[in-house]
Amino acid sequence: MRDDVFQRWRSLRAGLLVAGVTGILGALFTWWQIERERVIDVEDIDRRARAIAHVLSYTVHDALRGPAENVATRLGKRLEGHSRLLGCAVFGSDGRLLAAGPKLKGFESSISGELTRLLPGDSDRCSTLLDHGRPVRMRAERMLRDDGEAAGTFVVAHDVTFIAERAAARLTQGLFVVVITAVMLATLVGGIAWLAYDRPLQHLADWMRRVRIEDSSEAPPVWLPSSQLVSETNRLAASYRAARTATFQEAHEAARSDRIWTSGRLRAHALDCLGIGNQLVVVSSREPYLHVRRDGKPHAVVPPGGVVTAVDPVLQACGGVWIAHGTGEADRETADAVGRLTVPPADPRYTLRRVWMTPRENDAYYGCCNDAIWPMCLLAHERPIFRTSDWQHYVAMNRRFADAVLEEVGGGQAIVLVQDYQMALVPQMVREVRPDLRICLFWHIPWPSVDAIRICPWREEILRGMLGADVIGFHLQQYCNSFLDTVDRMLEAKLDRDHFTAEVRGHVSRVRALPISVQPWSERGVPAGPALDRRHEALREAMGLQGVEVAVGVDRIDHTKGLPERLRAFAHFLQKYPQHRGRVSLVQLAAPSRLHLKRYQDHLEELVHYAEQINSQFATEGWKPIHLLVDQHDAGTVHAFLSMATIAIVSSLHDGMNLVAKEYVLAQDGLGGCLILSEFAGAAEQLTDALVINPYDTEQFADAIRYAVEMPADERSERMRRLRRHVDEHNIYRWAAELLSGMHAVTPAKARAAAGRKALV
Ligand code: G6P
Repeated sequence: MRDDVFQRWRSLRAGLLVAGVTGILGALFTWWQIERERVIDVEDIDRRARAIAHVLSYTVHDALRGPAENVATRLGKRLEGHSRLLGCAVFGSDGRLLAAGPKLKGFESSISGELTRLLPGDSDRCSTLLDHGRPVRMRAERMLRDDGEAAGTFVVAHDVTFIAERAAARLTQGLFVVVITAVMLATLVGGIAWLAYDRPLQHLADWMRRVRIEDSSEAPPVWLPSSQLVSETNRLAASYRAARTATFQEAHEAARSDRIWTSGRLRAHALDCLGIGNQLVVVSSREPYLHVRRDGKPHAVVPPGGVVTAVDPVLQACGGVWIAHGTGEADRETADAVGRLTVPPADPRYTLRRVWMTPRENDAYYGCCNDAIWPMCLLAHERPIFRTSDWQHYVAMNRRFADAVLEEVGGGQAIVLVQDYQMALVPQMVREVRPDLRICLFWHIPWPSVDAIRICPWREEILRGMLGADVIGFHLQQYCNSFLDTVDRMLEAKLDRDHFTAEVRGHVSRVRALPISVQPWSERGVPAGPALDRRHEALREAMGLQGVEVAVGVDRIDHTKGLPERLRAFAHFLQKYPQHRGRVSLVQLAAPSRLHLKRYQDHLEELVHYAEQINSQFATEGWKPIHLLVDQHDAGTVHAFLSMATIAIVSSLHDGMNLVAKEYVLAQDGLGGCLILSEFAGAAEQLTDALVINPYDTEQFADAIRYAVEMPADERSERMRRLRRHVDEHNIYRWAAELLSGMHAVTPAKARAAAGRKALV
């Protein structure tokens, strides 16, 4: 029991140790000080004795010249003492006592005994004797005649009891101070150690036990002795949870069809591909979780966009680090000094490392991304703007992200997954420093024709940056073909069109079509069953949608999403088929995006204005044709609308893939929905059971809406069943598994070099 107390309360032991050391040092110091004072006091007494002897020396000499019997009479009272001076004594040259002060009576024999130690060559001698337990300091000085012969000895004796008394008082005082200091230090050190170490570590241990036994998802205690410990604990807990979930799921998944990729299966596959000690490092501009301030407190928000939707479940399954730009107003206060935190906030599974930019860097970097590269790759008839200073910042920020990757990898090994067009230069920048890492770049937007790329002043730099990757992924084979054509036309590269590789300066990049996908809704914590029905009811009631068929759109507000075209087609549908007025409403969830760019602000205003115009034209009492809900909607709201809607419309003018189309399919548990999908979205190549439209063709678009509304139930469910099977089988875990398999096949540069050397030998 006592052992246990000592074991638990290390701080007590630390306090006692400090007290012990302080006590010993204090006692030694006190002893040294007392001894020093004693020496000073004795020297002082000796000095006085010498002065007395000096003053009386002439008289004593004179007395010794006369008969021995007269010495006492001649010296008389001069031999008497006062206060500490006991008195003086005179001995003859034969050692016989000739005269002594009265206080020396009975002590003469001890003095004469001491005089025998006065060696012939000594002129004087000081020593301490005991007179019945009382310490006496005596000084004996040899008296010489004029001829140099000894005439006698003159002795001065002092009572030095005060020295011993003073030493005893000093000792008591000193020990008292030492004990008080030791007790205070023990309390202080013990208290600080308890507050700074014992208590936090005890909390940490309790928290670990709860994570292990109770499956708790709470965050670790924050008051740990070092911020690095907090950060590493978070990361360890995230990996532990990911591993535990994986094991748990693997056990359950044995019964499931092996056609379906699950997070657990991906996790096992990732471990195979990564190998021991390798980590997964993702880098993108957009972060998966940003923190805004609500009611004065930080609140985590998931930003819209394909990269986040697709890659977050992969990292949740596999663990690792995601490096991204911290853009939330409360981002800094929710990360540690390096910018790290673990996410998702409610159930941490991986580390998010935030990279910071100044407002100037932000504007110029995103100027290059969204004013130049985005409109160049997405053909929505927006003219790209190529500003040199934007490009310079693009290079600098890519360098910053690459440095963060290198820092996170440290001296270890990793598979680095670089995401999207904002990071085109990162693969080459990382490879220049660490050619032994396996690097993949996934390009989430389309790769247009050579002619579209030719206009870019920095096309060569972009291509060389991308070709630093070992694998370059696109959603569609058509984008892969265009990319190789572009490399062929713009760089000196060795292409292998059979194996889809490009070799530049000895480095081979494989170009692969890997259509991205989504995570099942069941894993995203959204309501299901009766809870979902209640949510539908509540939404219908709040929005006046009872008895109305809902067509839904979920998009970032972006020119490429074809939102005006969608509204125009819907208005035309109502115009052309008036029998459907009052029976169908379009609910458009629109997430504001890139509002720092004026084009995007104008676009938002245009949409709001257009929706109002259509509503004022067609609305009747109790029916509103268009509900434009401009907000960052959470997953629960998006799912509620997608599952409630019997029609979903994706009308992108150009889109790498479009994950909303796939999310809609997975939300249709009852198979009662119908998807209208733009032929210019990458998803159209896979989701062939959708009603495929050209969003620019308003006539055809409006007819497709009518067809969807009137489609017989069995055709709807048959189409949706096939769509569903495709998305079930080609989910995000399969995408990630194929990507990792592709990376696994890559031999890192160092290994290649070693193999080359072996072959030469
Ligand atoms: C697209 C891009 C992503 C981007 C997302 C949202 O999906 O491919 O890279 O993150 O749009 O855009 P934002 O500018 O808000 O990050």
